[in-house]
Amino acid sequence: MALKITVIGTGYLGATHAAAMAELGFEVLGLDVVPEKIEMLATGRVPMYEPGLEELLRKHVAGIEGSTGRLRFTTSWEEVGEFGDVHFVCVNTPQKHGEYACDMSYVDAAFASLAPRLTRPALVVGKSTVPVGSADRLAALLDERAPGDVELAWNPEFLREGFAVDDTLHPDRIVVGVRSEAAEKLLREVYATPVAEGSPFVVTDFPTAELVKTAANSFLATKISFINAMAEVCEAAGGDVAKLAEAIGHDERIGKKFLRAGVGFGGGCLPKDIRAFMARAGELGADQALTFLREVDSINMRRRGHMVELAREAVGGSSFLGKRVAVLGATFKPDSDDVRDSPALNVAGQIHLQGGQVTVYDPKGMDNARRLFPTLGYADSAPEAVRGADVVLHLTEWREFRDLDPAELGKLVTTPIILDGRNALDPDQWREAGWTYRAMGRPRA
Ligand code: UDX
Repeated sequence: MALKITVIGTGYLGATHAAAMAELGFEVLGLDVVPEKIEMLATGRVPMYEPGLEELLRKHVAGIEGSTGRLRFTTSWEEVGEFGDVHFVCVNTPQKHGEYACDMSYVDAAFASLAPRLTRPALVVGKSTVPVGSADRLAALLDERAPGDVELAWNPEFLREGFAVDDTLHPDRIVVGVRSEAAEKLLREVYATPVAEGSPFVVTDFPTAELVKTAANSFLATKISFINAMAEVCEAAGGDVAKLAEAIGHDERIGKKFLRAGVGFGGGCLPKDIRAFMARAGELGADQALTFLREVDSINMRRRGHMVELAREAVGGSSFLGKRVAVLGATFKPDSDDVRDSPALNVAGQIHLQGGQVTVYDPKGMDNARRLFPTLGYADSAPEAVRGADVVLHLTEWREFRDLDPAELGKLVTTPIILDGRNALDPDQWREAGWTYRAMGRPRA
């Protein structure tokens, strides 16, 4: 009989995982503690912007015409406990308020609610990003509180926002931390399709599985801060960081990806994951091993301040008072509506606080941006945002911004200066249309 799967927590990770499990042929029940989210999902709508997710959901959600009916949603823990052979825990682990450490309260609450309802044999699979050592602790909790024959496994998730569906259906690796052959066998059954398509299946112990995730994100963050450090040196020495990245990227050991210099990384994962990793290493007495991550973090945060300085210079050098600043982009990356720890909004907020009149436009992130920064100015389109601007800041590299016509835009601004914080626009095209184009880590003219 086909496995029955539950997915606990229906954010970016959980909603995508639930839809993907249904696509792989399993009967799936998704749970969230927020009833409004469940109501939305149950009608095939997604509470965030993620390309392809709504289509996949509608293909499987029960009650939608033409769907397979394999995917349902609930707020009932009893139902989840009775239903599942495999329970995936996908709740979020944000940064603790005022601390570097990770807030485990959602994970702990999920395990505490689930455990007593596990009356029949089941495998609980943690997918949330957690501090190393959590799985050992949560396994003990299940031993103590679950009435049935229940085991834990840890299966970190590597999906990227904007590519969540594809990354989940076709993962570049599947990592499972297990304590028994039975748990490994069950997870091989869950992932039989991607494994048959060639996804490597890596079996580890609990701590290694937990560490793989934080190590991967730390490496990616380090790569971005490395190229941003090179951008600082390029600016000082008159070099071009985009050319430098292209040239070193030809070395296969280095690789081309994640070498785009600019305003740096943000989002709900990289910044908080490297901080939580440092905090946990400290608890384990291994803090020296990760002191370099402090530097990675500070190079990254410096980028935002540097962009503010470039903007100040562009509007005359002394103050933003009375100056109009257009900000293109609010999300932390394109193809997402996520504004968590977004460099774009951080820069917009700093300029606003220093007296600038900031107008932001983003293709998908407007609602979330307005909620987070209600005092900033907002426009409904890029041309409207740049109208009358003394400087234009390009801070999230949406395709829509690359497709803008610089000549047309030039007619709307007060001063045609564009600062490319993502090194993603074509400098020649903007300069030919009469703009002063400036990017981070590249020569001025
Ligand atoms: C990341 C990891 O990539 C993913 O594997 C993990 O599961 C979750 O965290 P995500 O947060 O969706 O995914 O975004 P990612 O594509 O990694 O980008 C993170 C940030 O780095 C963005 O703000 C992006 O703009 C920035 N970035 C990325 C750069 O500044 N330069 C680059 O070259 C690449």
